[in-house]
Amino acid sequence: MSLPKFSPFQLAVHVAALAPLAVLVIAWQTGNLSVNPIQDATFRTGKTALALLTASLACTPANTLFGFRPALKARRALGLYAFLYAAIHFSIFIGLDYGFDLRLVALELAEKRYILVGAAALLILLPLAITSTKGWQRRLGKSWKKLHRWVYLAGVLVIFHYIWVQKADIGQPLVWGALVGILLLLRAPAIRKRAAGWRAAIGKPRRGSSRQAG
Ligand code: HEM
Repeated sequence: MSLPKFSPFQLAVHVAALAPLAVLVIAWQTGNLSVNPIQDATFRTGKTALALLTASLACTPANTLFGFRPALKARRALGLYAFLYAAIHFSIFIGLDYGFDLRLVALELAEKRYILVGAAALLILLPLAITSTKGWQRRLGKSWKKLHRWVYLAGVLVIFHYIWVQKADIGQPLVWGALVGILLLLRAPAIRKRAAGWRAAIGKPRRGSSRQAG
């Protein structure tokens, strides 16, 4: 059996994505979470899911704007890790917080808008995670790209989820919102075209530059 081969960048991505989970498990086992461990774990997994989702949204602009191609290879893993943390986040909520009382969860869903948008984001991420494989990409053809564009909506919904969770101090959610907003704007065809122009201009050696360099 051959082991998957990772570039140093991909390896760093996997380590960075798994580290918060390892830290959480250790903190849980050693009793080092806050006085409200369930809420602490909910916050940590939610925040990590958002950070990884944002990182996955940053991969395409990192390539189009800066020509950083390794980012494209990390995109799928980042998206899948975002889903993993979101699924753990949801499991903590439904299992530890609500003891799998689905009636109570349904009531919360109907009453609290932050739960509703969080659930919508998770429901969007689920089919994206399932169809993230090369096989599904082949099977779905052109529709694959269309389907995976739903991740933009998931990103926006998660920002609303975070804003509505916070109620009063919405400084942090707004910073994340600005970041996600910029990453989505950078996909606009006009901006991508300009970026390609800048990159071509920077990449083109100026007249006489080879003589100077030599
Ligand atoms: C059915 C789906 C979801 C449920 C039921 C849910 C539930 C929760 C709950 C109960 C909280 C803490 C509220 C509090 O104690 O005041 C929370 C916070 C949060 N959730 Fe979710 N969530 C869901 C989906 C998501 C998803 C998909 C993401 C990200 C991809 C996410 C990211 C966050 C973030 C960033 C926070 C705030 C963390 C902090 O304040 O540090 N949630 N969520």
